[in-house]
Amino acid sequence: MTLKLNAKHVIDEIPFLDLKSQQNKIITQINKSIKRVLDHGKYIMGPEVFELEEKLASYSNVKNVITCSSGTDALMMVLMAKQIGPGDAIFLPSFTYTATPEVVAILGATPIFVDVLFDTYNIDAKSLLKSIGIAKEHGLKPKAIIAVDLFGQPSDYNALEKIADENKLWILADAAQSYGAEFFKKKVGKLAHATATSFFPAKPLGCYGDGGAIFTDNDELADTLRSIRVHGKGEHKYDNVRIGLNARLDTIQAAILLEKIKIFDNELKVRQNVADYYNKMLKNIVQVPFVIKNAKSAWAQYTIQLPDKSFRETLMSELKKVGIPSMIYYQKPLHLQTAYKQFPKSNSLTVSEEISEKVLSLPINLKHSSYITQKFCEIFKKIFEN
Ligand SMILES: Cc1ncc(COP(=O)(O)O)c(C=O)c1O
Repeated sequence: MTLKLNAKHVIDEIPFLDLKSQQNKIITQINKSIKRVLDHGKYIMGPEVFELEEKLASYSNVKNVITCSSGTDALMMVLMAKQIGPGDAIFLPSFTYTATPEVVAILGATPIFVDVLFDTYNIDAKSLLKSIGIAKEHGLKPKAIIAVDLFGQPSDYNALEKIADENKLWILADAAQSYGAEFFKKKVGKLAHATATSFFPAKPLGCYGDGGAIFTDNDELADTLRSIRVHGKGEHKYDNVRIGLNARLDTIQAAILLEKIKIFDNELKVRQNVADYYNKMLKNIVQVPFVIKNAKSAWAQYTIQLPDKSFRETLMSELKKVGIPSMIYYQKPLHLQTAYKQFPKSNSLTVSEEISEKVLSLPINLKHSSYITQKFCEIFKKIFEN
């Protein structure tokens, strides 16, 4: 669609996520890769699945990678492998996507919502400590922390590890948005007891359907996860040693990811360049993203904070008029969602509540970065002055 802005300025509507341009760069290789799968016909657990697991393990420097059907299943499989169930408390941020607490609730355990930090949007260690006490008051057994690396930035795993060790908890990293990111020069996948990521198309490393993976250095956990992925198999598929799932990654999706991983580092660089440019152009008027020392974000989203909700609404609609889409991740923290009202409210979750009214994510778009920031500044000033 082409928008006419004025006589001089005509621009194509900017996609929030430009997957088409990325696809155009590698379409020949992708077609060849898919054709290879069609030729050998091993659509389920074909050789590309294992090749991809090896590539991902070497990329993240971890011993085991278990690919699976989605980021949600990756989270759930780890909880299943650790036998999480009724009576167990799992600590996770309220400001995240519903998949994070959903898997906990499906297994009959209790998600305990923890507040996040105002600047990084990741779990707040102080709020976590309070939540552990509250879980015990409710007669629950504190078992694990699910740390979400929101918008692509790793959580502060050093701070979390300390609390985990002191309270005999283990950490599952929800890295659905942060694959490719780093913390103290270690890649995501290596930062927690187990890490779950998503290959949903919009993620930093996305396939062309649903997909996910789990990373762990623990061989025993990895074996259990491989069993859970195929209906709790033992020696073979028809030897059922535990309750499992059908949670395999399709061979075709693995074949696509094998091509996409070749350009992944370059894609991350482009995202970083766009984020640097946006920071430079916008830092004087809005709160731009804050990345902690020794961390590198995968920039799944570029998220700013605005003065308030009504300012955000006006800005979004004015941006839309000039062809710039924007998104709100997330409009409501999860402890306020109907689905989660039944769970004990841990402590004050005011930061999650406040930022859900202020955040706005802008398209990470190299081609239009100058147009986006220029129009953003013009519109922002106009609204501010009114
Ligand atoms: C933080 C977080 N966790 C988990 C998921 C679930 O991933 P998937 O959509 O692959 O199931 C997502 C997906 O958006 C996510 O953003």
